[in-house]
Amino acid sequence: MPTVFLAILASNQAHLLPQFLAYIERLDYPRERISIGVLTDHNIDNTSAMLHEWVMNVEVLYHSVSLIDTNDVVYNSEPLVWNDERYLHIMNLRERSLNEARRQWADFILFVDCDNFLVNPRTLRNLVAQNKSLIAPMLTVHKDSMYSNFWCGTDEHGYYKRTSSYVPTLNRERRGCFPVPMIYGTILIDLRRQGSTRLSYKEQPLNYGGPNDDMLLFAASVKAADLQMYILNDEVYGHLMPTASQYSSVDHLKVYYSDYKMTTLLNAGDIPYTDNVYRPTRPTDNLGFDRVYMINLKRQAERRKRMLSALNELNFEYTVVDAVDGKSLTNEDLSSLKIKPLPGYLDPIVKRKITLGEIGCFLSHYNLWKEVDELELKRVIILEDDLDFEAGFINSFRWLITEADTVVPDWELIYLGRKLVYGNDQEDQVPGADTLVIPNYSYWTLAYTLTLAGARKLLAQRPLEKIIPVDEYLPIMFDKHDIVDGGVLSS
Ligand SMILES: *[C@@H]1O[C@H](CO)[C@@H](O)[C@H](O)[C@H]1NC(C)=O
Ligand SMILES: *[C@@H]1O[C@H](CO)[C@@H](O)[C@H](O)[C@H]1NC(C)=O
Ligand SMILES: *[C@@H]1O[C@H](CO)[C@@H](O)[C@H](O)[C@H]1NC(C)=O
Repeated sequence: MPTVFLAILASNQAHLLPQFLAYIERLDYPRERISIGVLTDHNIDNTSAMLHEWVMNVEVLYHSVSLIDTNDVVYNSEPLVWNDERYLHIMNLRERSLNEARRQWADFILFVDCDNFLVNPRTLRNLVAQNKSLIAPMLTVHKDSMYSNFWCGTDEHGYYKRTSSYVPTLNRERRGCFPVPMIYGTILIDLRRQGSTRLSYKEQPLNYGGPNDDMLLFAASVKAADLQMYILNDEVYGHLMPTASQYSSVDHLKVYYSDYKMTTLLNAGDIPYTDNVYRPTRPTDNLGFDRVYMINLKRQAERRKRMLSALNELNFEYTVVDAVDGKSLTNEDLSSLKIKPLPGYLDPIVKRKITLGEIGCFLSHYNLWKEVDELELKRVIILEDDLDFEAGFINSFRWLITEADTVVPDWELIYLGRKLVYGNDQEDQVPGADTLVIPNYSYWTLAYTLTLAGARKLLAQRPLEKIIPVDEYLPIMFDKHDIVDGGVLSS
Protein backbone atom coordinates (compact mmCIF):
# COMPACT_ATOMS: atom_id res chain seq x y z
CA MET A 1 0.00 0.00 0.00
CA PRO A 2 1.20 3.55 -0.65
CA THR A 3 2.42 5.47 2.38
CA VAL A 4 0.18 8.17 3.82
CA PHE A 5 1.04 11.13 6.01
CA LEU A 6 -2.03 11.94 8.08
CA ALA A 7 -2.17 15.61 9.07
CA ILE A 8 -4.73 16.20 11.79
CA LEU A 9 -5.75 19.70 12.87
CA ALA A 10 -7.57 19.94 16.19
CA SER A 11 -8.18 22.99 18.37
CA ASN A 12 -10.81 23.59 21.04
CA GLN A 13 -12.46 20.28 20.33
CA ALA A 14 -11.90 18.27 23.48
CA HIS A 15 -15.57 17.27 23.29
CA LEU A 16 -15.07 15.67 19.86
CA LEU A 17 -11.61 14.14 20.28
CA PRO A 18 -12.40 10.74 21.87
CA GLN A 19 -14.77 9.93 19.04
CA PHE A 20 -12.89 11.63 16.20
CA LEU A 21 -9.71 9.74 17.13
CA ALA A 22 -11.63 6.47 17.35
CA TYR A 23 -12.66 6.92 13.71
CA ILE A 24 -9.03 7.61 12.77
CA GLU A 25 -7.89 4.45 14.59
CA ARG A 26 -10.62 2.45 12.89
CA LEU A 27 -9.47 3.31 9.37
CA ASP A 28 -8.96 0.10 7.48
CA TYR A 29 -5.43 0.81 6.23
CA PRO A 30 -2.09 -0.73 7.28
CA ARG A 31 -0.94 1.35 10.22
CA GLU A 32 2.72 0.80 9.44
CA ARG A 33 2.08 2.67 6.16
CA ILE A 34 0.72 5.70 8.03
CA SER A 35 2.62 8.57 9.66
CA ILE A 36 0.60 10.96 11.77
CA GLY A 37 1.32 14.63 12.37
CA VAL A 38 -1.08 16.39 14.73
CA LEU A 39 -1.40 20.18 14.82
CA THR A 40 -3.04 22.27 17.50
CA ASP A 41 -3.23 25.91 18.58
CA HIS A 42 -5.07 28.46 20.72
CA ASN A 43 -6.89 26.04 23.02
CA ILE A 44 -8.95 27.15 25.95
CA ASP A 45 -10.14 23.63 26.63
CA ASN A 46 -8.26 20.37 27.28
CA THR A 47 -7.47 19.61 23.62
CA SER A 48 -3.73 20.08 24.02
CA ALA A 49 -3.32 17.70 27.00
CA MET A 50 -5.53 15.11 25.37
CA LEU A 51 -3.54 15.17 22.14
CA HIS A 52 -0.29 14.72 24.05
CA GLU A 53 -1.78 11.68 25.75
CA TRP A 54 -3.12 10.18 22.54
CA VAL A 55 0.15 10.67 20.66
CA MET A 56 2.03 8.92 23.45
CA ASN A 57 -0.38 5.98 23.43
CA VAL A 58 -0.56 5.37 19.68
CA GLU A 59 3.05 6.10 18.82
CA VAL A 60 3.89 2.40 18.72
CA LEU A 61 0.99 1.60 16.40
CA TYR A 62 1.95 3.76 13.43
CA HIS A 63 5.07 4.34 11.38
CA SER A 64 5.51 7.58 13.30
CA VAL A 65 3.38 9.98 15.30
CA SER A 66 4.22 13.57 16.14
CA LEU A 67 2.50 16.60 17.60
CA ILE A 68 3.10 20.25 16.85
CA ASP A 69 1.55 22.03 19.79
CA THR A 70 1.47 25.79 19.28
CA ASN A 71 -0.78 26.48 22.20
CA ASP A 72 1.63 29.08 23.52
CA VAL A 73 1.23 31.31 20.45
CA VAL A 74 -1.01 34.20 21.50
CA TYR A 75 -3.18 36.07 19.04
CA ASN A 76 -4.87 39.38 19.60
CA SER A 77 -8.28 37.82 19.44
CA GLU A 78 -10.74 35.76 21.39
CA PRO A 79 -9.91 32.06 21.14
CA LEU A 80 -12.80 31.13 18.87
CA VAL A 81 -12.59 34.15 16.58
CA TRP A 82 -10.72 33.85 13.33
CA ASN A 83 -8.67 36.94 12.57
CA ASP A 84 -5.91 37.40 10.00
CA GLU A 85 -3.24 36.46 12.47
CA ARG A 86 -4.90 33.13 13.21
CA TYR A 87 -5.45 32.38 9.53
CA LEU A 88 -1.77 33.01 8.87
CA HIS A 89 -0.81 30.74 11.74
CA ILE A 90 -3.04 27.92 10.47
CA MET A 91 -1.72 28.37 6.94
CA ASN A 92 1.79 28.01 8.33
CA LEU A 93 0.85 24.88 10.24
CA ARG A 94 -0.73 23.26 7.20
CA GLU A 95 2.28 24.18 5.11
CA ARG A 96 4.57 22.59 7.71
CA SER A 97 2.57 19.34 7.40
CA LEU A 98 2.81 19.42 3.65
CA ASN A 99 6.57 19.91 3.81
CA GLU A 100 6.99 17.25 6.47
CA ALA A 101 5.09 14.75 4.30
CA ARG A 102 7.31 15.64 1.33
CA ARG A 103 10.42 15.34 3.51
CA GLN A 104 9.29 11.84 4.55
CA TRP A 105 8.72 10.92 0.90
CA ALA A 106 5.13 10.02 1.71
CA ASP A 107 3.11 8.97 -1.33
CA PHE A 108 0.03 10.77 -0.06
CA ILE A 109 -0.91 13.34 2.51
CA LEU A 110 -4.35 13.21 4.07
CA PHE A 111 -5.48 16.39 5.80
CA VAL A 112 -8.29 15.81 8.30
CA ASP A 113 -9.84 18.42 10.57
CA CYS A 114 -11.16 17.26 13.90
CA ASP A 115 -14.76 18.13 13.14
CA ASN A 116 -14.73 15.72 10.18
CA PHE A 117 -15.91 12.32 11.39
CA LEU A 118 -14.77 9.60 8.99
CA VAL A 119 -17.33 7.04 10.07
CA ASN A 120 -16.66 4.73 7.13
CA PRO A 121 -13.51 2.68 7.83
CA ARG A 122 -12.92 2.28 4.08
CA THR A 123 -12.56 6.03 3.57
CA LEU A 124 -8.78 6.20 3.17
CA ARG A 125 -8.56 2.98 1.18
CA ASN A 126 -11.25 4.10 -1.28
CA LEU A 127 -9.76 7.55 -1.71
CA VAL A 128 -6.35 6.10 -2.51
CA ALA A 129 -7.90 3.64 -4.97
CA GLN A 130 -9.41 6.49 -7.01
CA ASN A 131 -5.92 7.50 -8.17
CA LYS A 132 -6.63 11.24 -8.22
CA SER A 133 -4.26 14.07 -7.43
CA LEU A 134 -6.68 15.70 -4.98
CA ILE A 135 -9.78 14.05 -3.62
CA ALA A 136 -12.19 14.34 -0.68
CA PRO A 137 -14.80 11.94 0.66
CA MET A 138 -18.18 13.67 0.69
CA LEU A 139 -19.08 14.60 4.28
CA THR A 140 -22.51 15.90 5.19
CA VAL A 141 -24.22 17.31 8.26
CA HIS A 142 -27.71 15.84 8.43
CA LYS A 143 -30.66 15.33 6.17
CA ASP A 144 -32.01 18.85 6.59
CA SER A 145 -28.72 20.60 6.07
CA MET A 146 -27.31 21.73 2.74
CA TYR A 147 -23.83 22.09 4.21
CA SER A 148 -20.99 19.82 3.11
CA ASN A 149 -17.27 19.83 2.38
CA PHE A 150 -17.33 20.58 -1.34
CA TRP A 151 -18.54 23.17 -3.78
CA CYS A 152 -19.94 22.37 -7.19
CA GLY A 153 -19.33 25.80 -8.64
CA THR A 154 -17.49 29.06 -8.07
CA ASP A 155 -18.00 32.56 -9.40
CA GLU A 156 -15.35 34.57 -11.24
CA HIS A 157 -13.78 35.59 -7.89
CA GLY A 158 -13.43 32.00 -6.74
CA TYR A 159 -16.29 32.21 -4.22
CA TYR A 160 -19.11 29.75 -3.70
CA LYS A 161 -21.80 29.45 -6.33
CA ARG A 162 -24.66 26.94 -6.14
CA THR A 163 -25.07 24.90 -9.33
CA SER A 164 -27.77 22.45 -10.37
CA SER A 165 -25.60 19.40 -9.67
CA TYR A 166 -25.01 20.32 -6.01
CA VAL A 167 -28.18 18.98 -4.42
CA PRO A 168 -28.33 15.67 -6.36
CA THR A 169 -24.69 15.08 -5.43
CA LEU A 170 -25.31 15.93 -1.79
CA ASN A 171 -28.34 13.61 -1.70
CA ARG A 172 -26.34 10.91 -3.47
CA GLU A 173 -28.84 10.66 -6.29
CA ARG A 174 -25.74 11.38 -8.35
CA ARG A 175 -23.03 9.00 -7.14
CA GLY A 176 -19.41 8.51 -8.03
CA CYS A 177 -16.26 10.55 -8.28
CA PHE A 178 -16.73 14.06 -9.70
CA PRO A 179 -14.42 16.96 -10.53
CA VAL A 180 -15.33 19.99 -8.37
CA PRO A 181 -13.77 23.44 -7.84
CA MET A 182 -13.49 23.13 -4.04
CA ILE A 183 -13.00 20.50 -1.36
CA TYR A 184 -11.93 21.13 2.22
CA GLY A 185 -11.69 19.68 5.70
CA THR A 186 -10.56 16.25 4.55
CA ILE A 187 -8.32 16.14 1.49
CA LEU A 188 -6.09 13.41 0.12
CA ILE A 189 -3.25 14.68 -2.05
CA ASP A 190 -1.08 12.46 -4.24
CA LEU A 191 2.42 13.79 -3.64
CA ARG A 192 3.90 11.62 -6.41
CA ARG A 193 2.23 13.76 -9.08
CA GLN A 194 4.46 16.25 -10.76
CA GLY A 195 2.16 19.24 -10.22
CA SER A 196 1.87 18.55 -6.49
CA THR A 197 5.18 20.23 -5.74
CA ARG A 198 3.53 23.55 -6.61
CA LEU A 199 0.74 23.10 -4.07
CA SER A 200 0.82 25.41 -1.08
CA TYR A 201 -1.31 26.64 1.77
CA LYS A 202 0.84 29.69 2.16
CA GLU A 203 2.54 30.90 -1.00
CA GLN A 204 0.16 33.03 -3.00
CA PRO A 205 0.01 31.96 -6.62
CA LEU A 206 0.63 34.60 -9.26
CA ASN A 207 -2.28 37.05 -9.59
CA TYR A 208 -3.98 35.75 -6.44
CA GLY A 209 -6.28 38.53 -5.33
CA GLY A 210 -8.10 36.63 -2.60
CA PRO A 211 -7.93 36.85 1.17
CA ASN A 212 -5.50 35.13 3.53
CA ASP A 213 -7.71 32.11 3.92
CA ASP A 214 -6.09 28.68 3.87
CA MET A 215 -8.95 27.14 1.94
CA LEU A 216 -9.23 29.76 -0.84
CA LEU A 217 -5.49 30.16 -1.18
CA PHE A 218 -4.98 26.42 -1.46
CA ALA A 219 -7.72 26.12 -4.11
CA ALA A 220 -5.98 28.86 -6.09
CA SER A 221 -2.69 26.99 -5.86
CA VAL A 222 -4.40 23.84 -7.15
CA LYS A 223 -5.62 25.79 -10.15
CA ALA A 224 -2.20 27.32 -10.71
CA ALA A 225 -0.65 23.84 -10.60
CA ASP A 226 -3.16 22.75 -13.25
CA LEU A 227 -4.56 20.05 -11.00
CA GLN A 228 -8.17 19.05 -10.43
CA MET A 229 -10.05 18.43 -7.19
CA TYR A 230 -12.54 15.55 -6.93
CA ILE A 231 -15.33 14.61 -4.56
CA LEU A 232 -16.16 10.95 -3.90
CA ASN A 233 -19.67 9.95 -2.79
CA ASP A 234 -20.02 6.36 -4.01
CA GLU A 235 -20.43 5.35 -0.36
CA VAL A 236 -21.45 7.25 2.76
CA TYR A 237 -18.17 8.41 4.24
CA GLY A 238 -18.97 10.58 7.21
CA HIS A 239 -20.18 13.76 8.76
CA LEU A 240 -19.16 17.28 9.59
CA MET A 241 -19.75 18.28 13.18
CA PRO A 242 -20.81 21.81 13.89
CA THR A 243 -17.72 23.36 15.43
CA ALA A 244 -17.49 25.46 18.51
CA SER A 245 -16.74 28.50 16.37
CA GLN A 246 -20.08 28.13 14.64
CA TYR A 247 -21.66 28.56 18.03
CA SER A 248 -19.76 31.84 18.35
CA SER A 249 -19.45 31.84 22.11
CA VAL A 250 -16.86 30.40 24.42
CA ASP A 251 -19.63 29.33 26.77
CA HIS A 252 -20.80 26.83 24.25
CA LEU A 253 -17.57 24.92 24.63
CA LYS A 254 -18.74 23.92 28.06
CA VAL A 255 -21.77 22.24 26.57
CA TYR A 256 -20.08 19.27 25.11
CA TYR A 257 -20.63 15.95 23.35
CA SER A 258 -24.35 15.49 22.88
CA ASP A 259 -25.25 19.05 22.17
CA TYR A 260 -23.04 19.04 19.12
CA LYS A 261 -23.70 15.54 18.04
CA MET A 262 -25.42 15.11 14.73
CA THR A 263 -28.68 13.23 14.46
CA THR A 264 -27.18 10.57 12.27
CA LEU A 265 -24.54 9.69 14.81
CA LEU A 266 -26.67 10.20 17.88
CA ASN A 267 -29.19 7.70 16.62
CA ALA A 268 -26.80 5.27 14.98
CA GLY A 269 -26.34 3.09 18.05
CA ASP A 270 -22.67 2.66 17.21
CA ILE A 271 -20.61 5.44 18.68
CA PRO A 272 -16.99 4.42 19.08
CA TYR A 273 -14.62 6.00 21.59
CA THR A 274 -10.92 5.44 21.68
CA ASP A 275 -9.33 4.03 24.82
CA ASN A 276 -6.16 5.87 23.98
CA VAL A 277 -7.29 9.18 25.32
CA TYR A 278 -8.86 10.39 28.52
CA ARG A 279 -12.59 10.74 28.17
CA PRO A 280 -14.16 13.29 30.45
CA THR A 281 -17.18 11.98 32.30
CA ARG A 282 -20.00 14.19 33.29
CA PRO A 283 -22.51 13.62 36.02
CA THR A 284 -25.82 12.62 34.45
CA ASP A 285 -28.39 15.38 34.13
CA ASN A 286 -32.11 14.80 33.83
CA LEU A 287 -32.79 18.49 33.34
CA GLY A 288 -35.00 18.77 36.38
CA PHE A 289 -37.13 15.69 35.62
CA ASP A 290 -37.57 13.02 38.27
CA ARG A 291 -37.34 10.14 35.82
CA VAL A 292 -36.55 9.50 32.19
CA TYR A 293 -38.37 6.32 31.21
CA MET A 294 -37.68 4.34 28.07
CA ILE A 295 -40.30 1.73 27.19
CA ASN A 296 -38.90 -1.27 25.35
CA LEU A 297 -40.14 -4.76 24.59
CA LYS A 298 -37.56 -7.20 25.90
CA ARG A 299 -37.45 -9.07 22.60
CA GLN A 300 -36.56 -5.84 20.74
CA ALA A 301 -32.90 -5.95 21.73
CA GLU A 302 -31.62 -3.95 18.75
CA ARG A 303 -33.95 -1.06 19.52
CA ARG A 304 -32.91 -1.13 23.14
CA LYS A 305 -29.23 -1.01 22.27
CA ARG A 306 -29.72 1.89 19.89
CA MET A 307 -31.78 3.87 22.39
CA LEU A 308 -29.39 3.26 25.27
CA SER A 309 -26.51 4.49 23.18
CA ALA A 310 -28.42 7.71 22.40
CA LEU A 311 -29.57 8.19 26.00
CA ASN A 312 -26.01 7.76 27.22
CA GLU A 313 -24.84 10.33 24.69
CA LEU A 314 -27.52 12.70 25.93
CA ASN A 315 -26.27 12.13 29.45
CA PHE A 316 -29.60 11.06 30.90
CA GLU A 317 -29.95 8.83 33.89
CA TYR A 318 -32.71 6.65 32.48
CA THR A 319 -34.97 3.85 33.62
CA VAL A 320 -35.62 1.09 31.11
CA VAL A 321 -39.18 -0.16 31.41
CA ASP A 322 -40.00 -3.61 30.08
CA ALA A 323 -43.02 -3.08 27.90
CA VAL A 324 -46.06 -5.27 28.48
CA ASP A 325 -45.96 -7.81 25.67
CA GLY A 326 -49.45 -8.02 24.19
CA LYS A 327 -48.60 -11.44 22.78
CA SER A 328 -48.26 -12.91 26.26
CA LEU A 329 -51.44 -11.38 27.71
CA THR A 330 -53.96 -14.06 28.70
CA ASN A 331 -57.67 -13.77 29.36
CA GLU A 332 -56.89 -14.20 33.05
CA ASP A 333 -54.52 -11.21 32.90
CA LEU A 334 -57.20 -9.14 31.25
CA SER A 335 -59.86 -10.03 33.76
CA SER A 336 -57.61 -9.66 36.80
CA LEU A 337 -56.74 -6.15 35.60
CA LYS A 338 -60.43 -5.51 34.90
CA ILE A 339 -59.59 -4.66 31.31
CA LYS A 340 -62.57 -4.27 29.04
CA PRO A 341 -62.55 -2.89 25.53
CA LEU A 342 -64.70 0.17 24.96
CA PRO A 343 -67.93 -1.22 23.51
CA GLY A 344 -68.31 -0.43 19.85
CA TYR A 345 -64.75 0.85 19.44
CA LEU A 346 -63.23 0.37 16.01
CA ASP A 347 -59.87 1.67 14.86
CA PRO A 348 -60.73 4.89 13.00
CA ILE A 349 -58.59 3.99 10.00
CA VAL A 350 -58.59 0.22 9.58
CA LYS A 351 -61.95 -0.32 11.35
CA ARG A 352 -60.94 -3.19 13.59
CA LYS A 353 -61.18 -3.87 17.30
CA ILE A 354 -58.34 -3.08 19.70
CA THR A 355 -55.51 -5.62 19.44
CA LEU A 356 -53.62 -7.35 22.24
CA GLY A 357 -50.53 -5.46 21.11
CA GLU A 358 -52.35 -2.16 21.60
CA ILE A 359 -53.57 -3.29 25.02
CA GLY A 360 -49.98 -4.18 25.97
CA CYS A 361 -48.83 -0.77 24.78
CA PHE A 362 -51.56 0.98 26.76
CA LEU A 363 -50.62 -0.97 29.88
CA SER A 364 -46.97 -0.01 29.51
CA HIS A 365 -47.89 3.67 29.61
CA TYR A 366 -50.61 3.17 32.21
CA ASN A 367 -48.18 1.47 34.61
CA LEU A 368 -45.89 4.49 34.36
CA TRP A 369 -48.73 6.91 35.09
CA LYS A 370 -49.48 4.82 38.17
CA GLU A 371 -45.85 4.93 39.25
CA VAL A 372 -45.81 8.72 38.84
CA ASP A 373 -48.92 8.90 40.99
CA GLU A 374 -47.72 6.49 43.67
CA LEU A 375 -44.22 7.96 43.98
CA GLU A 376 -45.61 11.49 43.60
CA LEU A 377 -43.08 12.29 40.90
CA LYS A 378 -43.37 15.94 39.92
CA ARG A 379 -42.49 15.50 36.26
CA VAL A 380 -41.18 12.71 34.06
CA ILE A 381 -40.12 12.07 30.47
CA ILE A 382 -41.59 9.00 28.75
CA LEU A 383 -39.93 7.69 25.59
CA GLU A 384 -40.74 4.80 23.31
CA ASP A 385 -37.86 2.93 21.69
CA ASP A 386 -38.43 3.72 18.02
CA LEU A 387 -37.64 7.41 17.96
CA ASP A 388 -34.77 9.51 16.66
CA PHE A 389 -33.42 12.47 18.58
CA GLU A 390 -32.77 15.71 16.75
CA ALA A 391 -29.40 17.36 16.68
CA GLY A 392 -29.14 19.75 19.60
CA PHE A 393 -31.97 17.99 21.39
CA ILE A 394 -30.81 18.89 24.89
CA ASN A 395 -30.59 22.61 24.19
CA SER A 396 -33.96 22.69 22.43
CA PHE A 397 -35.60 20.68 25.18
CA ARG A 398 -34.16 22.86 27.90
CA TRP A 399 -35.50 25.94 26.16
CA LEU A 400 -38.90 24.34 25.56
CA ILE A 401 -39.39 23.47 29.23
CA THR A 402 -38.20 26.88 30.38
CA GLU A 403 -40.73 28.45 28.10
CA ALA A 404 -43.54 26.10 29.12
CA ASP A 405 -42.86 26.76 32.80
CA THR A 406 -43.05 30.49 32.16
CA VAL A 407 -45.99 30.70 29.78
CA VAL A 408 -48.16 27.78 30.93
CA PRO A 409 -46.80 26.87 34.37
CA ASP A 410 -49.63 24.42 34.99
CA TRP A 411 -48.91 22.34 31.90
CA GLU A 412 -49.71 18.65 32.25
CA LEU A 413 -48.51 16.88 29.12
CA ILE A 414 -46.17 17.99 26.35
CA TYR A 415 -45.60 15.82 23.31
CA LEU A 416 -41.95 15.64 22.28
CA GLY A 417 -42.63 13.35 19.37
CA ARG A 418 -45.84 12.29 17.63
CA LYS A 419 -47.50 12.55 14.24
CA LEU A 420 -50.46 14.64 13.21
CA VAL A 421 -53.32 12.51 11.98
CA TYR A 422 -54.04 15.04 9.28
CA GLY A 423 -50.56 15.90 8.11
CA ASN A 424 -51.38 19.44 7.04
CA ASP A 425 -53.37 20.43 10.13
CA GLN A 426 -52.93 23.92 11.38
CA GLU A 427 -52.11 24.05 15.05
CA ASP A 428 -52.52 27.15 17.21
CA GLN A 429 -49.40 28.56 18.78
CA VAL A 430 -49.57 28.72 22.57
CA PRO A 431 -49.92 32.49 23.15
CA GLY A 432 -46.59 33.98 24.11
CA ALA A 433 -44.55 30.86 23.33
CA ASP A 434 -42.25 30.17 20.36
CA THR A 435 -41.80 26.47 20.93
CA LEU A 436 -45.28 25.28 21.87
CA VAL A 437 -48.47 24.62 19.95
CA ILE A 438 -51.79 23.32 21.20
CA PRO A 439 -51.75 19.83 19.72
CA ASN A 440 -54.41 18.79 17.27
CA TYR A 441 -55.52 15.15 16.88
CA SER A 442 -52.24 13.24 17.05
CA TYR A 443 -51.08 9.65 16.92
CA TRP A 444 -47.85 7.67 17.20
CA THR A 445 -47.08 8.72 20.76
CA LEU A 446 -43.30 8.52 20.65
CA ALA A 447 -42.27 10.75 23.47
CA TYR A 448 -43.90 13.05 25.97
CA THR A 449 -43.39 14.68 29.31
CA LEU A 450 -45.97 14.38 32.02
CA THR A 451 -46.56 16.05 35.37
CA LEU A 452 -48.08 14.53 38.46
CA ALA A 453 -51.33 16.40 37.81
CA GLY A 454 -51.34 15.10 34.23
CA ALA A 455 -50.80 11.51 35.31
CA ARG A 456 -53.62 11.76 37.84
CA LYS A 457 -56.00 13.10 35.20
CA LEU A 458 -55.16 10.21 32.90
CA LEU A 459 -55.77 7.71 35.69
CA ALA A 460 -58.94 9.34 36.99
CA GLN A 461 -60.91 8.16 33.95
CA ARG A 462 -60.20 4.52 34.90
CA PRO A 463 -59.30 3.88 31.27
CA LEU A 464 -58.66 0.13 31.64
CA GLU A 465 -62.37 -0.46 32.07
CA LYS A 466 -63.02 1.00 28.60
CA ILE A 467 -59.67 0.55 26.98
CA ILE A 468 -58.72 2.07 23.61
CA PRO A 469 -55.23 2.52 22.12
CA VAL A 470 -53.09 5.09 23.93
CA ASP A 471 -52.76 7.01 20.66
CA GLU A 472 -56.53 7.58 20.77
CA TYR A 473 -56.82 8.04 24.53
CA LEU A 474 -54.46 11.00 24.82
CA PRO A 475 -56.18 13.09 22.08
CA ILE A 476 -59.55 12.41 23.73
CA MET A 477 -58.12 13.63 27.00
CA PHE A 478 -57.04 16.91 25.44
CA ASP A 479 -60.27 17.07 23.53
CA LYS A 480 -58.94 16.97 19.99
CA HIS A 481 -60.27 13.62 18.85
CA ASP A 482 -62.55 14.33 15.95
CA ILE A 483 -63.79 10.73 15.77
CA VAL A 484 -65.62 11.29 19.05
CA ASP A 485 -68.02 13.64 17.32
CA GLY A 486 -68.18 11.40 14.31
CA GLY A 487 -69.79 8.74 16.45
CA VAL A 488 -67.24 5.94 16.42
CA LEU A 489 -66.51 6.50 20.10
CA SER A 490 -69.85 7.97 21.03
CA SER A 491 -70.85 4.99 23.09
C1 LIG B 1 -7.14 16.82 30.41
O1 LIG B 1 -6.61 15.70 29.71
C2 LIG B 1 -5.61 15.00 30.44
C3 LIG B 1 -4.96 14.00 29.52
O2 LIG B 1 -5.81 13.47 28.59
C4 LIG B 1 -6.24 14.38 31.66
O3 LIG B 1 -5.31 13.62 32.37
C5 LIG B 1 -6.79 15.49 32.51
O4 LIG B 1 -7.46 14.95 33.62
C6 LIG B 1 -7.75 16.35 31.72
N1 LIG B 1 -8.12 17.52 32.50
C7 LIG B 1 -9.36 17.95 32.60
C8 LIG B 1 -9.58 19.17 33.42
O5 LIG B 1 -10.30 17.43 32.04
C1 LIG C 1 -3.21 6.74 -12.12
O1 LIG C 1 -3.37 7.95 -12.82
C2 LIG C 1 -2.25 8.30 -13.63
C3 LIG C 1 -2.48 9.71 -14.14
O2 LIG C 1 -3.78 9.94 -14.55
C4 LIG C 1 -2.09 7.27 -14.73
O3 LIG C 1 -0.98 7.58 -15.52
C5 LIG C 1 -1.91 5.90 -14.08
O4 LIG C 1 -1.85 4.91 -15.06
C6 LIG C 1 -3.03 5.60 -13.11
N1 LIG C 1 -2.72 4.39 -12.37
C7 LIG C 1 -3.58 3.39 -12.26
C8 LIG C 1 -3.12 2.22 -11.47
O5 LIG C 1 -4.69 3.42 -12.76
C1 LIG D 1 -57.35 20.50 13.70
O1 LIG D 1 -57.81 19.50 12.84
C2 LIG D 1 -59.10 19.69 12.30
C3 LIG D 1 -59.44 18.55 11.41
O2 LIG D 1 -58.65 17.51 11.56
C4 LIG D 1 -59.16 20.98 11.55
O3 LIG D 1 -60.47 21.22 11.09
C5 LIG D 1 -58.67 22.12 12.40
O4 LIG D 1 -58.64 23.31 11.65
C6 LIG D 1 -57.32 21.81 12.95
N1 LIG D 1 -56.74 22.92 13.69
C7 LIG D 1 -57.11 23.37 14.90
C8 LIG D 1 -56.32 24.51 15.42
O5 LIG D 1 -57.99 22.86 15.55
